[in-house]
Amino acid sequence: MLGNFTFHNPTKLYFGENSLENLSKELGKYGEKVMLVYGGGSIRKNGIYDAVLAELRKAGKQTVELSGVMPNPTIEKVMEGVALARKEAVDFILAVGGGSVCDYCKAVAGSTYCEQDPWEYYFNNFGEMTCRWIPVGCVLTMAGTGSEMDSCSVISKHSENRKKFYYFRNPDFSILNPAYTYTVPKHHTVAGIYDIMSHILEQYLSGTDDNTSDYIAEGLMRSLVVSSRKVLGNPEDYEARSNIMWTATWALNGLLACGKPTDWMVHMLGQAVAAYTDATHGHTLSAVSGAYYRLLIGRSEEAVKKFRRLATAVWDIVPAGKTDKEIALEGLASMEAWMRELGLAMDITACGADASQLEGMADACPINESGYVILTREDVIEVLRQSL
Ligand code: NZQ
Ligand code: ZN
Repeated sequence: MLGNFTFHNPTKLYFGENSLENLSKELGKYGEKVMLVYGGGSIRKNGIYDAVLAELRKAGKQTVELSGVMPNPTIEKVMEGVALARKEAVDFILAVGGGSVCDYCKAVAGSTYCEQDPWEYYFNNFGEMTCRWIPVGCVLTMAGTGSEMDSCSVISKHSENRKKFYYFRNPDFSILNPAYTYTVPKHHTVAGIYDIMSHILEQYLSGTDDNTSDYIAEGLMRSLVVSSRKVLGNPEDYEARSNIMWTATWALNGLLACGKPTDWMVHMLGQAVAAYTDATHGHTLSAVSGAYYRLLIGRSEEAVKKFRRLATAVWDIVPAGKTDKEIALEGLASMEAWMRELGLAMDITACGADASQLEGMADACPINESGYVILTREDVIEVLRQSL
């Protein structure tokens, strides 16, 4: 049964090899000063920077640049962007990069005219955004987070060992050219793929009803597994890159959450690991998933049923002659074999964590109450210990 929900996603998407052609037209709707934001320089090597600049010129825009946005962007870097956006009174923020750059731009857009300390107000206290917002657009260069079509922004503060999220506002538009993702290194390509899988599972692994969202989720997961294997063999497989990019967007643009309680504990655990290690997001998720999912299967009959369904619908486990729990565990083992095939981190030691950090990570890990099992602090520590 689907419960009550509102579905509204205001981001306009342009998808495909020629999608950048739409940038100048979109920019025409905004004021003349554009802040162009990017990361560590990959866009200068693969030609995306030049192509974007040509569109900015075509639109007759004045451009202010901000570069060096790091993976897992920090609040200190956000404040640098805030200072520049305010000084230059920019009319629009254009993110060119992966989830980190997109998230960063949302944080700058909502913090430039915020009178409070943005870290305290938004990320620590979930204060409502009431100040002026600077509109944001994205040219996405890697697939995974779904940031191109959601309002979420994830920001780190290393001095406090915290990585936190806030829901600002969606980008007005996003431009998705799958060919832009050809140059993403393998470490980040597979991290993005597992991030997508995890987003789907965080929503799928909750609730006990017969729910349309779950059938959509199963289709997306099957497509992702097929395309992930193709991309491993050929990073320039357009078909596979395009399917992965589109799956990433649908995994986290609100559709799959319709009518679902959702869980999100793997993300809370992964964020706690990243707060201490600054490791790549998707690898922190793969590192904690196995231990967390085994806890769910061990403790909850509802979880066993859902993992059983996952095993048959996505991992093609043949159920005959097996108990539900055996089927559930066999499906999980198949998923882990796929994760190894991709070369994902299978433990938090591989992410740079050690046993001395477990208590601190538990402090950095919020506990959600909507999944099959509500963890205690001791459970969090035990899952992390088993993930070492
Ligand atoms: O910095 P540059 O030079 O751009 O290099 C990046 C970076 O080193 C590189 N890269 C991106 N596109 C490339 C490329 N290299 C070559 N060619 C290209 N076309 O890849 C590296 C990783 O980029 P990053 O943006 O950090 O990756 P991702 O898209 O996975 O974003 C991760 C961030 O998003 C947050 C994560 O926590 C993390 O901070 N998330 C955001 C979410 C959201 N907004 O809804 C949800 C997610 O669960 C996640 O938490
Ligand atoms: Zn994620």
